[in-house]
Amino acid sequence: MYICLCHGVTDSKIRSLLEAGASIKDIQKNCHAGTDCGACINSIQKLKKSKNPLDNGCPEC
Ligand code: FES
Repeated sequence: MYICLCHGVTDSKIRSLLEAGASIKDIQKNCHAGTDCGACINSIQKLKKSKNPLDNGCPEC
């Protein structure tokens, strides 16, 4: 499923980056998700939070 339509980034791509320990900023640098309209940021944060329930969801962390 596409998470970022602006850059054609799928949830599996984001999950694999998160599994490798990527932060939101790392994801933005790696695949540019969330760097255009920003509509996908909440979805990326939810994926990150679902990976780590203790995560505070801060996009800068
Ligand atoms: S949908 Fe991801 S930046 Fe626009």
